[in-house]
Amino acid sequence: MKSLRHGMLLLGLLPMVAFAAGDGATLQSANIDVGNTASLQRGARLFHNYCLGCHSVEYMRYSRVAEDLGLPPELAQESLIFTDAKLGDRIEIAMPPEASADWFGKAPPDLTLTARQRGVDWVYTYLNSFYLDESSTTGVNNVVFPDVAMPHVLWPLQGWQAARFAPGEHGADHGAFEGFELVEAGQLTPGEYDDAIRDITAYMSYLAEPMQTQRQRLGLWVLAFIAVLGVLAYLLKQEYWKDVH
Ligand code: HEC
Repeated sequence: MKSLRHGMLLLGLLPMVAFAAGDGATLQSANIDVGNTASLQRGARLFHNYCLGCHSVEYMRYSRVAEDLGLPPELAQESLIFTDAKLGDRIEIAMPPEASADWFGKAPPDLTLTARQRGVDWVYTYLNSFYLDESSTTGVNNVVFPDVAMPHVLWPLQGWQAARFAPGEHGADHGAFEGFELVEAGQLTPGEYDDAIRDITAYMSYLAEPMQTQRQRLGLWVLAFIAVLGVLAYLLKQEYWKDVH
């Protein structure tokens, strides 16, 4: 009964989530696999390289990430830490928040819980939705986060894309979003870029809920346990009924 009520509540929230995408843009499915450690490791490397200059993940420590992702200490130090932080430290931002608020007009928020607050599909689509816009101070805009203050930091990988919109009506700048066009290629092909941001999204999902990887592993053990128990119960039944038949 209780779960039914929760289900109804979730259904009630759906239209709001769809609306939150803004500008009529539909969210793309992130299609992540948080149980895939290699994907999390690639995501961590990209995230620590491209995002920690501005964003903190202050509810997480480097050491916990290293342990969960199966990275030995030296490798973790090398591939996750680009400041003078120690392995036991919280993942803090390299730049003081006041300075970055001055530069961007908005302080970059802590990203520990973002994948849960916004949802993984939103994060994935956001990282795929920066487009060139001369009227913006950063030179880019974002379809799911209009007038965002964040520059397109992954441009060396993706390149630059332009957005097509339907003509604006009633004095609006533009109408509904229609699609992107890659105007300058980056280091990655579009398919490789999708994989890269999928890995980043998976890592952010892990950060928001580190227990989920362990829960998946635990789930497998529980299933294995039930299977073994089932076999034993069956054998036991055979044993009991042997003399009856
Ligand atoms: C140069 C600084 C900078 C870098 C580097 C950067 N960001 Fe941002 N980011 C920002 C700023 C500033 C905002 C706030 C935008 C706003 O509120 O308009 C932001 C906002 C966001 C948001 C939206 C958060 C929310 O819920 O409102 C996400 C998600 C995000 N960044 C992800 C990333 C990821 C992933 C990376 C690395 C690939 C990254 N950022 C790198 C500056 C940066």
